[in-house]
Amino acid sequence: MCGIVGYVGPKEVVPVILEGLRRLEYRGYDSAGIAVGTPGQEKLEIRRAPGKLRNIEEVLRQHPLHGTYGIGHTRWATHGRPTEENAHPHRDCTGRIVVVHNGIVENYIELKRELTAQGHLFVTQTDTEIIAHLIEEVQKQAEAAGTPIPLEVAVRQAVKRLTGAFALGVLSSLEPDKIVAARFGPPVVIGLGKDEHGQGEYFVASDVPGILHHTRNIIFLNDGDMAILTLNGIAFTDFEGNPLERKTQRVTWDPIQAEKGGYKHFMLKEIWEQPRAIRDTTLGRISLETGQVFLNEMAIAPEELAKVTSINIAACGTSWHAATAGKYMIERLARIPVEVDYASEYRYRDPIADPNALGMLITQSGETADTLAAQREMIALGSKTVAICNVVGAMITRDANGTIYTHAGPEIGVASTKAFSSQITALFLFALHLAQVRGTLTPAESLSLVDELSRIPAKIQDMLQNVSLQCEELAKSFSTVRDFLYLGRGIHFPIALEGALKLKEISYIHAEGYPAGEMKHGPNALIDETLPVVVLATQDPNDPGSRLRYEKTLSNVQEVTARSGRVIAIAVDGQQDLVQLVEHVISIPPAPELLLPLLEIIPLQLLAYYIAVRRGCDVDQPRNLAKSVTVE
Ligand code: G6P
Repeated sequence: MCGIVGYVGPKEVVPVILEGLRRLEYRGYDSAGIAVGTPGQEKLEIRRAPGKLRNIEEVLRQHPLHGTYGIGHTRWATHGRPTEENAHPHRDCTGRIVVVHNGIVENYIELKRELTAQGHLFVTQTDTEIIAHLIEEVQKQAEAAGTPIPLEVAVRQAVKRLTGAFALGVLSSLEPDKIVAARFGPPVVIGLGKDEHGQGEYFVASDVPGILHHTRNIIFLNDGDMAILTLNGIAFTDFEGNPLERKTQRVTWDPIQAEKGGYKHFMLKEIWEQPRAIRDTTLGRISLETGQVFLNEMAIAPEELAKVTSINIAACGTSWHAATAGKYMIERLARIPVEVDYASEYRYRDPIADPNALGMLITQSGETADTLAAQREMIALGSKTVAICNVVGAMITRDANGTIYTHAGPEIGVASTKAFSSQITALFLFALHLAQVRGTLTPAESLSLVDELSRIPAKIQDMLQNVSLQCEELAKSFSTVRDFLYLGRGIHFPIALEGALKLKEISYIHAEGYPAGEMKHGPNALIDETLPVVVLATQDPNDPGSRLRYEKTLSNVQEVTARSGRVIAIAVDGQQDLVQLVEHVISIPPAPELLLPLLEIIPLQLLAYYIAVRRGCDVDQPRNLAKSVTVE
């Protein structure tokens, strides 16, 4: 995700910012930029470059910048390619105001239209640029009314017009040595330091490592907070301008720990980031008023989508599990038959050409060789292709007729977690969109499902703490076993597969996922008092189909307990029948059946994680595995 570092103080600002951005590199980025001001200068100077920080360093070597206050940004592209123009900071018309931003402005098209009508000129495709123009406009109008307002007041008025999520840093050449920062969603931290002569210096960053080498005195902004950094200190207000008290914390993390946000492993951090990842993947794509889903990035017209007669999905690993869950969603909501292939199998199985079939590729990295090969095969067979991908501009997106980006942010742990839940989210949105263009859902059904999806992040947030403690406890009893079985039925089956994959990837315990109803056709022979069996025994009691599947799964649970198997059941809050039947129950909040996977996967990821930690495994970099597999 984007990185922000800003500085006001006695030091030369460029090295401070570059060093800070370097320490935020782990967040992932594909372009960088910096804006610097010097009192007396009419405009703020900007340097930007696509690619890694060494590129902007080269630009700065050729065109050096000097100043006393400034802000830098590393951009992880979400809207618009990672080019020089799209890199932050972005300017207003006059070049006096610059903005860096992490997040998404959902209503930027509407605001851009309004500002264009007021005469503002836009030079990029980004949502961020509108913020600079909005602040300019607010100040211009106040000036015209004879009541000029300072930057912080203008920022306050501007952010009230934004919907979406933002961490902002704003500078104005008319107000030197000042940075205005605001938070609504993505994190912002403020640092208070002193240089070697005891002079005060002030920092803003999107994460602690960006400033940790200068100060350990940190303030974490809350949602709805603004901070005004000047040479005289820092003032905190809410978006109404009411002053706030914010406590300084002394951070004792070492730099590596700081990169992990204080978590022991990237995987754990990424598990906890899932509410944010799901929210960002949903933001801007749904209307909570009408239930409509907008997938504007797809260059396939709704009329064309309406004619699709079947869908072939190819993917690998965790992405294949997301694809398989997606099959249930698409078939159920849009009533189109879906086939899911391992990408490595698809191209060698001589698939049958069908010009009305849509090809889909699901890949976190967008660079997996098998998945790229499957895409080539689909195109050769005359299909259009849609990609679901987490990396803007990745290989898979170049030949796709449309990409639905998951906005999970860079995933560092080799075992995929937040990318998986973002893929499931994107597939749910795609299934809903298809259903809407094909008219297979009533507006009321759409509205209800969109509403339920929007509630998922908060549900995950609420359950994370309890489920973590429970899984950590369970890991004590189960970390020494040799085999695990995971069972699920319907859409819960691919989640069982994903749970088993997580465990084998990071703990090296043999684990198998199985359809619950298949147990009696073989795997029952494995059951004895030593075998843990994780059963996805959730249901949506309001859905008759879901209730029926649950009852059948319950019978399978009884088959296991009758043979002394040790069951860990994942159930929805209040399923008393299970509590009496099995050794361990992990409860998750209720949701419609097609959304339950987003909740079910959390305990499975945490169980694998805590077992692996107890076994002393290298959780983030398991043996023999790679994050991105670029060979067939
Ligand atoms: C590798 C990774 C897995 C991932 C798979 C597919 O095997 O270790 O975590 O699920 O590749 O990667 P993709 O980037 O295509 O989703």
